[in-house]
Amino acid sequence: MAMEFTFETRPFAAANYAEADTVLVMVCKECVPALAGYEMPDALRAALDDVLTDVELTRTDKVMALTVALPGRKALQQVLLCGIGWGKECTPANMRTVAGSASRLISKRSKSVLVLAPLLHNPARAHYLHALVQGLMLGAYEFNKYKSDAEPAQQVAVTVLTEVPSAEAEAAVRGAQIEARAVMLARGLDSEPGNVLYPETMAAQAQAIAERLKLQCTVLNEQQLAEQQYNALLAVGVGSARPPRLIALRYDGAARYGGAKQDWLAFVGKGITFDSGGISIKPDDGMGEMKDDMSGAGAVLAAVQAVAELQLPINVLGVLACAENMPGGRAQRPGDIVRTACGKTIEVISTDAEGRMALADGVQYAAQQGAATIVDIATLTGAVIIALGEQTSGIISNDDALVEQLKKAGKFAGESWWQLPSLPECREQIKSDVADIKNTGGRPGGCITGGLFVEHFVPQGTPWAHLDIGGTATAKSARGCIPKGCTGFGTLTLVELAKLYAQ
Ligand code: BES
Ligand code: MN
Ligand code: ZN
Repeated sequence: MAMEFTFETRPFAAANYAEADTVLVMVCKECVPALAGYEMPDALRAALDDVLTDVELTRTDKVMALTVALPGRKALQQVLLCGIGWGKECTPANMRTVAGSASRLISKRSKSVLVLAPLLHNPARAHYLHALVQGLMLGAYEFNKYKSDAEPAQQVAVTVLTEVPSAEAEAAVRGAQIEARAVMLARGLDSEPGNVLYPETMAAQAQAIAERLKLQCTVLNEQQLAEQQYNALLAVGVGSARPPRLIALRYDGAARYGGAKQDWLAFVGKGITFDSGGISIKPDDGMGEMKDDMSGAGAVLAAVQAVAELQLPINVLGVLACAENMPGGRAQRPGDIVRTACGKTIEVISTDAEGRMALADGVQYAAQQGAATIVDIATLTGAVIIALGEQTSGIISNDDALVEQLKKAGKFAGESWWQLPSLPECREQIKSDVADIKNTGGRPGGCITGGLFVEHFVPQGTPWAHLDIGGTATAKSARGCIPKGCTGFGTLTLVELAKLYAQ
């Protein structure tokens, strides 16, 4: 069952254990002894004393569930003892993870949760508080809107005990909520099936967000795309009865909040609302999973929402390159040659390598709008799974400083990234005999050549990074703050990158 949390922070001395149905105790090895100094009911103390010697518990992401009978209460109190880490492992990222695991264990009857984490006794630990709130919200996420028997979301009031000064604590909670809601927005969109979410309905979603946050939103329809020569995105979508859309959202935070940086940071998302492979059709097995092939666009839309709600003093352009990739009598075919807006020609080797074509136009649009830095994000390849597994996303970039920022952002976000090399030799792989480039470079280094294809459409000298979330956009099972299914991966990293950009 999904849960809706409200949060309140209080100093440790103001703890009220009796009003909570569930108590979360978050500890690492170093902070276990601190528990001795806190006021708490004897029954709870005795229960904790029994298990706190358990070494396993102080390791990362271990949750032990106990029940305690408190005097004067009818119901048993649920106690979730959570291990944040061991020494250096006691990080905000692990706090987020274990809070996510604990979140799914909170009793269905619980209305009130008290969180006790000795490390929040340190007034400088606002970033742990931030991670805790995100973890609780994200771990309990469930996509159940199409289940007739889904119960309404459980309302849970969370009180976190902390000595972080109240203004700072409130800001940390507020920011964490904005970001977690953005991730949930992305998860929800990514989970929508292709018959519900397609380029036009994606545009409607973007427009609704733009209206609420007073962002400028431009939607190019198929005629406008043709007029402006965005032929690569058009080619991908031409086989579908649902026409493509290029959606752009502009958040002018520099002017609104007096930021020093006037230039535009652009996020460009692959928005293939369903990828059948087109004429190079995919095997039937698991094809339905390709309804989430717009997860890059989902992350971009969600990140723009968060950046605007956080009121960051920078300019962000979000571009969603949306199309449905279908076979059909009008569909593009292998062997086709497409002339793009900048004049470069693409030989279509596989119509299943459609994401890079959509991104080619998305990136060109961002550049044409004057973007100073371009980050594209896409479920671009299966090859990234072979290269990096299902927990890590790939980076291909032309700018080392941007990669450093992304890695830093990923660390704050608790998302794993790894840069792949882009040697000149790899560029040879996508040279075409009949056009300027071709849309596949064969199996070797498939994630790299996918990125290098997109790089062709980035103006010389513009810092650019390509993020391949092909392995991380979905998860086979729930783990920490990641649910089974669509993860919203990348959203938090983009938001953290924007925060770094604002510094
Ligand atoms: N959307 C897929 C990539 C993908 C596949 C992501 C499975 C996650 C899980 C993409 O459009 C695609 O089909 N890529 C091809 C590229 C190839 C034809 C060069 C791939 O990875 O096989
Ligand atoms: Mn494909
Ligand atoms: Zn695809």
